[in-house]
Amino acid sequence: MNWHQDLYNRQIYFDLYAEEDTKLAVQQVDDLVKLVDIAPGASILDVCCGYGRHAIELARRGYQVTGIDLAPKQIDEAERRASESGVEIEFLHGDAREMSFPRQFDVTLSLFLSFGFDDDESNMRMLQRISEATAPGGVLLMDLWNREKEIRDFAPLTIEEREGGIRVEKRWEFDQWNGRLNWQNTVRFPDGTTEEWDHSVRAYTLVELRHMLTEVGFQPEKVYGDFKGNAHTLDSPQTITLSRKL
Ligand SMILES: C[S@@+](CC[C@H](N)C(=O)[O-])C[C@H]1O[C@@H](n2cnc3c(N)ncnc32)[C@H](O)[C@@H]1O
Repeated sequence: MNWHQDLYNRQIYFDLYAEEDTKLAVQQVDDLVKLVDIAPGASILDVCCGYGRHAIELARRGYQVTGIDLAPKQIDEAERRASESGVEIEFLHGDAREMSFPRQFDVTLSLFLSFGFDDDESNMRMLQRISEATAPGGVLLMDLWNREKEIRDFAPLTIEEREGGIRVEKRWEFDQWNGRLNWQNTVRFPDGTTEEWDHSVRAYTLVELRHMLTEVGFQPEKVYGDFKGNAHTLDSPQTITLSRKL
Protein backbone atom coordinates (compact mmCIF):
# COMPACT_ATOMS: atom_id res chain seq x y z
CA MET A 1 0.00 0.00 0.00
CA ASN A 2 1.41 3.44 -0.88
CA TRP A 3 1.33 6.48 1.42
CA HIS A 4 -1.87 7.99 0.01
CA GLN A 5 -3.90 4.78 0.12
CA ASP A 6 -2.82 4.56 3.75
CA LEU A 7 -3.57 8.17 4.75
CA TYR A 8 -6.87 8.73 2.92
CA ASN A 9 -8.40 5.57 4.36
CA ARG A 10 -7.63 6.65 7.92
CA GLN A 11 -10.13 8.21 10.30
CA ILE A 12 -7.58 10.77 11.53
CA TYR A 13 -7.67 12.59 8.16
CA PHE A 14 -11.36 13.31 8.80
CA ASP A 15 -10.96 14.01 12.52
CA LEU A 16 -8.22 16.59 12.01
CA TYR A 17 -9.24 18.41 8.86
CA ALA A 18 -12.73 17.65 7.52
CA GLU A 19 -14.73 20.18 9.54
CA GLU A 20 -12.59 23.22 8.64
CA ASP A 21 -11.99 22.10 5.05
CA THR A 22 -15.71 21.55 4.42
CA LYS A 23 -16.44 25.16 5.45
CA LEU A 24 -13.61 26.40 3.23
CA ALA A 25 -14.99 24.50 0.23
CA VAL A 26 -18.15 26.67 0.13
CA GLN A 27 -16.11 29.82 -0.51
CA GLN A 28 -13.74 28.03 -2.88
CA VAL A 29 -16.64 26.81 -5.00
CA ASP A 30 -18.16 30.32 -5.11
CA ASP A 31 -14.79 31.57 -6.38
CA LEU A 32 -14.01 28.79 -8.81
CA VAL A 33 -17.39 29.01 -10.51
CA LYS A 34 -16.51 32.63 -11.34
CA LEU A 35 -12.91 31.86 -12.26
CA VAL A 36 -13.87 29.16 -14.76
CA ASP A 37 -17.15 30.85 -15.76
CA ILE A 38 -19.00 27.53 -15.64
CA ALA A 39 -22.22 27.55 -17.68
CA PRO A 40 -25.45 26.72 -15.79
CA GLY A 41 -26.07 22.97 -15.65
CA ALA A 42 -22.60 22.10 -17.00
CA SER A 43 -21.17 18.62 -16.44
CA ILE A 44 -18.21 18.52 -14.04
CA LEU A 45 -15.74 15.77 -13.15
CA ASP A 46 -14.04 16.18 -9.76
CA VAL A 47 -10.91 14.03 -10.06
CA CYS A 48 -9.63 12.75 -6.69
CA CYS A 49 -12.80 14.16 -5.11
CA GLY A 50 -12.10 12.92 -1.56
CA TYR A 51 -15.21 12.99 0.61
CA GLY A 52 -16.96 15.26 -1.88
CA ARG A 53 -16.72 18.65 -0.18
CA HIS A 54 -16.46 20.52 -3.52
CA ALA A 55 -18.63 18.09 -5.51
CA ILE A 56 -21.53 18.57 -3.08
CA GLU A 57 -21.28 22.37 -3.20
CA LEU A 58 -21.21 22.25 -7.01
CA ALA A 59 -24.24 19.94 -7.15
CA ARG A 60 -26.09 22.34 -4.82
CA ARG A 61 -25.55 25.02 -7.46
CA GLY A 62 -27.22 22.87 -10.12
CA TYR A 63 -24.23 21.34 -11.92
CA GLN A 64 -24.16 17.67 -12.97
CA VAL A 65 -21.29 16.33 -10.93
CA THR A 66 -19.27 13.12 -11.05
CA GLY A 67 -16.53 12.47 -8.50
CA ILE A 68 -13.88 9.75 -8.52
CA ASP A 69 -11.50 8.73 -5.74
CA LEU A 70 -9.24 5.77 -5.04
CA ALA A 71 -9.87 5.59 -1.29
CA PRO A 72 -13.04 3.61 -0.40
CA LYS A 73 -13.33 5.49 2.89
CA GLN A 74 -13.44 8.82 1.05
CA ILE A 75 -16.11 7.63 -1.39
CA ASP A 76 -18.24 6.10 1.40
CA GLU A 77 -18.14 9.42 3.24
CA ALA A 78 -18.87 11.36 0.02
CA GLU A 79 -21.98 9.24 -0.61
CA ARG A 80 -23.13 9.67 2.98
CA ARG A 81 -22.70 13.45 2.82
CA ALA A 82 -24.41 13.76 -0.58
CA SER A 83 -27.45 11.84 0.62
CA GLU A 84 -27.55 13.93 3.82
CA SER A 85 -27.43 17.09 1.66
CA GLY A 86 -30.13 15.80 -0.68
CA VAL A 87 -28.03 16.18 -3.87
CA GLU A 88 -27.57 13.71 -6.72
CA ILE A 89 -23.92 13.03 -7.53
CA GLU A 90 -22.29 10.10 -9.26
CA PHE A 91 -19.46 9.04 -6.94
CA LEU A 92 -17.10 6.39 -8.27
CA HIS A 93 -14.54 4.39 -6.41
CA GLY A 94 -11.65 4.06 -8.86
CA ASP A 95 -8.16 4.98 -9.96
CA ALA A 96 -7.95 8.22 -11.93
CA ARG A 97 -4.87 6.83 -13.71
CA GLU A 98 -7.10 4.20 -15.28
CA MET A 99 -10.46 6.00 -15.52
CA SER A 100 -12.50 6.15 -18.69
CA PHE A 101 -16.01 7.45 -19.26
CA PRO A 102 -18.61 6.92 -21.98
CA ARG A 103 -18.93 10.71 -22.23
CA GLN A 104 -16.78 13.83 -21.83
CA PHE A 105 -17.21 16.61 -19.26
CA ASP A 106 -17.46 20.37 -19.76
CA VAL A 107 -15.18 20.98 -16.79
CA THR A 108 -12.61 18.78 -15.05
CA LEU A 109 -11.22 19.67 -11.64
CA SER A 110 -8.14 18.60 -9.72
CA LEU A 111 -8.46 20.33 -6.36
CA PHE A 112 -6.33 20.74 -3.26
CA LEU A 113 -3.00 19.31 -4.35
CA SER A 114 -4.41 16.06 -5.70
CA PHE A 115 -1.89 15.72 -8.53
CA GLY A 116 1.68 14.46 -8.25
CA PHE A 117 1.33 11.72 -5.65
CA ASP A 118 2.95 8.98 -7.72
CA ASP A 119 5.95 8.70 -10.06
CA ASP A 120 6.16 10.88 -13.17
CA GLU A 121 4.87 8.16 -15.49
CA SER A 122 1.77 7.51 -13.34
CA ASN A 123 1.10 11.21 -12.88
CA MET A 124 1.30 11.69 -16.63
CA ARG A 125 -1.11 8.79 -17.12
CA MET A 126 -3.60 10.51 -14.81
CA LEU A 127 -3.25 13.74 -16.81
CA GLN A 128 -3.81 11.81 -20.04
CA ARG A 129 -7.02 10.29 -18.61
CA ILE A 130 -8.16 13.73 -17.44
CA SER A 131 -7.61 15.03 -20.96
CA GLU A 132 -9.62 12.15 -22.47
CA ALA A 133 -12.44 12.92 -20.01
CA THR A 134 -12.57 16.63 -20.95
CA ALA A 135 -14.73 17.67 -23.92
CA PRO A 136 -13.09 19.71 -26.72
CA GLY A 137 -13.43 23.36 -25.69
CA GLY A 138 -13.83 22.26 -22.06
CA VAL A 139 -11.68 23.48 -19.19
CA LEU A 140 -9.36 21.81 -16.68
CA LEU A 141 -8.72 23.64 -13.42
CA MET A 142 -5.75 22.38 -11.40
CA ASP A 143 -5.22 23.66 -7.87
CA LEU A 144 -1.68 22.94 -6.68
CA TRP A 145 0.76 24.27 -4.13
CA ASN A 146 3.01 27.07 -5.28
CA ARG A 147 6.28 25.16 -5.52
CA GLU A 148 8.45 28.29 -5.45
CA LYS A 149 6.80 29.51 -2.25
CA GLU A 150 7.14 26.09 -0.63
CA ILE A 151 10.86 26.10 -1.37
CA ARG A 152 11.39 29.72 -0.30
CA ASP A 153 9.53 29.12 2.98
CA PHE A 154 11.07 25.70 3.54
CA ALA A 155 11.63 24.75 7.19
CA PRO A 156 12.69 21.25 8.28
CA LEU A 157 10.14 21.18 11.12
CA THR A 158 6.71 22.83 11.33
CA ILE A 159 4.26 22.48 14.19
CA GLU A 160 0.47 22.95 14.19
CA GLU A 161 -1.19 23.36 17.56
CA ARG A 162 -4.80 22.24 17.17
CA GLU A 163 -7.91 22.31 19.34
CA GLY A 164 -8.04 19.91 22.26
CA GLY A 165 -4.29 20.02 22.90
CA ILE A 166 -3.48 18.08 19.73
CA ARG A 167 -0.10 18.84 18.19
CA VAL A 168 0.85 17.97 14.61
CA GLU A 169 4.58 17.90 13.90
CA LYS A 170 5.74 17.78 10.28
CA ARG A 171 9.31 16.91 9.34
CA TRP A 172 10.04 18.07 5.81
CA GLU A 173 12.55 17.14 3.17
CA PHE A 174 12.90 18.52 -0.33
CA ASP A 175 14.26 15.74 -2.53
CA GLN A 176 15.83 17.83 -5.29
CA TRP A 177 16.88 14.89 -7.44
CA ASN A 178 13.28 13.72 -7.80
CA GLY A 179 11.63 17.14 -7.36
CA ARG A 180 9.54 15.85 -4.47
CA LEU A 181 8.43 17.37 -1.23
CA ASN A 182 8.32 14.62 1.41
CA TRP A 183 7.11 15.02 4.94
CA GLN A 184 6.51 12.81 7.94
CA ASN A 185 3.59 13.68 10.18
CA THR A 186 3.43 12.91 13.87
CA VAL A 187 0.23 13.71 15.74
CA ARG A 188 0.62 13.92 19.51
CA PHE A 189 -2.58 13.56 21.52
CA PRO A 190 -2.91 14.96 25.07
CA ASP A 191 -3.04 11.41 26.53
CA GLY A 192 0.50 10.80 25.23
CA THR A 193 -0.47 8.57 22.29
CA THR A 194 0.79 9.35 18.79
CA GLU A 195 -0.18 8.58 15.21
CA GLU A 196 2.18 8.85 12.25
CA TRP A 197 2.02 8.85 8.48
CA ASP A 198 4.10 9.93 5.49
CA HIS A 199 3.27 12.29 2.66
CA SER A 200 5.09 12.80 -0.65
CA VAL A 201 4.23 15.02 -3.58
CA ARG A 202 6.00 15.72 -6.85
CA ALA A 203 6.42 19.49 -6.94
CA TYR A 204 6.25 20.29 -10.64
CA THR A 205 7.57 23.62 -11.90
CA LEU A 206 5.15 25.70 -13.93
CA VAL A 207 7.26 25.04 -17.02
CA GLU A 208 7.00 21.27 -16.49
CA LEU A 209 3.25 21.55 -15.98
CA ARG A 210 2.84 23.64 -19.10
CA HIS A 211 4.70 21.06 -21.18
CA MET A 212 2.75 18.15 -19.66
CA LEU A 213 -0.61 19.85 -20.21
CA THR A 214 0.31 20.62 -23.81
CA GLU A 215 1.49 17.06 -24.41
CA VAL A 216 -1.89 15.58 -23.45
CA GLY A 217 -3.89 18.00 -25.61
CA PHE A 218 -4.62 21.02 -23.41
CA GLN A 219 -3.88 24.65 -24.19
CA PRO A 220 -2.71 26.19 -20.88
CA GLU A 221 -4.44 29.59 -20.75
CA LYS A 222 -4.10 31.16 -17.30
CA VAL A 223 -2.30 30.79 -14.01
CA TYR A 224 -3.62 32.39 -10.83
CA GLY A 225 -2.17 32.65 -7.32
CA ASP A 226 -5.45 31.86 -5.54
CA PHE A 227 -9.15 31.17 -6.09
CA LYS A 228 -9.90 34.92 -6.10
CA GLY A 229 -8.03 35.16 -9.41
CA ASN A 230 -5.08 37.20 -8.11
CA ALA A 231 -1.90 37.18 -10.18
CA HIS A 232 0.53 34.32 -9.61
CA THR A 233 3.76 35.43 -7.91
CA LEU A 234 6.59 33.74 -6.01
CA ASP A 235 4.59 34.34 -2.82
CA SER A 236 1.15 33.17 -3.97
CA PRO A 237 -0.45 30.62 -1.64
CA GLN A 238 -1.55 28.44 -4.56
CA THR A 239 -0.85 27.69 -8.20
CA ILE A 240 -4.14 27.45 -10.08
CA THR A 241 -3.93 26.68 -13.78
CA LEU A 242 -6.78 26.91 -16.29
CA SER A 243 -6.30 24.94 -19.49
CA ARG A 244 -8.58 24.48 -22.47
CA LYS A 245 -8.99 21.12 -24.19
CA LEU A 246 -8.16 21.41 -27.87
C1 LIG B 1 -5.47 15.94 -0.85
S1 LIG B 1 -6.85 14.86 -1.05
C2 LIG B 1 -7.96 15.99 -1.80
C3 LIG B 1 -9.38 15.51 -1.89
C4 LIG B 1 -10.37 16.53 -2.44
N1 LIG B 1 -10.02 16.97 -3.78
C5 LIG B 1 -10.51 17.70 -1.50
O1 LIG B 1 -10.20 18.83 -1.90
O2 LIG B 1 -10.92 17.50 -0.36
C6 LIG B 1 -6.32 13.82 -2.38
C7 LIG B 1 -7.28 12.73 -2.78
O3 LIG B 1 -6.77 12.09 -3.95
C8 LIG B 1 -7.14 10.73 -3.90
N2 LIG B 1 -6.31 9.98 -4.87
C9 LIG B 1 -4.97 9.83 -4.84
N3 LIG B 1 -4.55 9.12 -5.91
C10 LIG B 1 -5.65 8.83 -6.63
C11 LIG B 1 -5.87 8.12 -7.85
N4 LIG B 1 -4.86 7.57 -8.53
N5 LIG B 1 -7.13 8.03 -8.31
C12 LIG B 1 -8.18 8.58 -7.64
N6 LIG B 1 -8.02 9.25 -6.47
C13 LIG B 1 -6.78 9.37 -5.97
C14 LIG B 1 -6.94 10.37 -2.45
O4 LIG B 1 -7.61 9.17 -2.09
C15 LIG B 1 -7.47 11.62 -1.75
O5 LIG B 1 -8.83 11.49 -1.42
